[in-house]
Amino acid sequence: MKLIAEGAEAKIYLNGNKILKKRICKKYREKELDVFLRKTRTKKEAKLLSDVKRINVKVPRLFEVKNFSIEMEYIYGEKLKNFLNKNNYKKFSKKIGEYVLKMHLSNIIHGDLTTSNIIVKDGELYFIDFGLGVETKSLEQKASDLLTLYQNFKSVHPEFDCWKYFLLGYKRKETEPVLHVFKKMLKRRRYI
Ligand SMILES: Nc1ncnc2c1ncn2[C@@H]1O[C@H](COP(=O)(O)OP(=O)(O)O)[C@@H](O)[C@H]1O
Ligand SMILES: [Mg+2]
Repeated sequence: MKLIAEGAEAKIYLNGNKILKKRICKKYREKELDVFLRKTRTKKEAKLLSDVKRINVKVPRLFEVKNFSIEMEYIYGEKLKNFLNKNNYKKFSKKIGEYVLKMHLSNIIHGDLTTSNIIVKDGELYFIDFGLGVETKSLEQKASDLLTLYQNFKSVHPEFDCWKYFLLGYKRKETEPVLHVFKKMLKRRRYI
């Protein structure tokens, strides 16, 4: 097993064609709270992976869930963050819009929508990292999902107008109320 990534919350190991995402103990958190958060986030992430798969959004296949770890399919590809360029950003941004639309129409919030949490494999987009995700009808939570992605686009890919193409995939009669709340959030953020 080889350690391939270490985030704020988890260590990611690669074992053949499988990934082990293991949530690590945070010393600064009180012990019981730490155990509770790691367990619930692990469970939630596994549940979201299987729920999202059912609505035909591509995610890693789930192999095994334990208290603090998830074993899943290794998506052998490239992070969208490093793959996006002037020739493909329109197509991929629109695709992200279509997939996020599917999730939001099913009341699934990813929670950390960034181009680091999307992997491109064979021209297809795979979403990973649902650890901060939730299932809710809340317009505010859907809008803040959008805000995270909007800010990621602006800060990581400022040379491309990803948002314009994202909206081509996301904007529908049903998502108008979400976009309305999103715009209000954006204004508030600008004047703070
Ligand atoms: N199923 C997977 N297939 C391929 N790479 C993965 C997979 N899961 C995680 N990774 C890699 O590990 C990194 C961190 O995993 P992630 O789930 O995003 O955790 P974190 O919460 O630390 O960001 C990802 O950015 C990606 O490079
Ligand atoms: Mg991540």
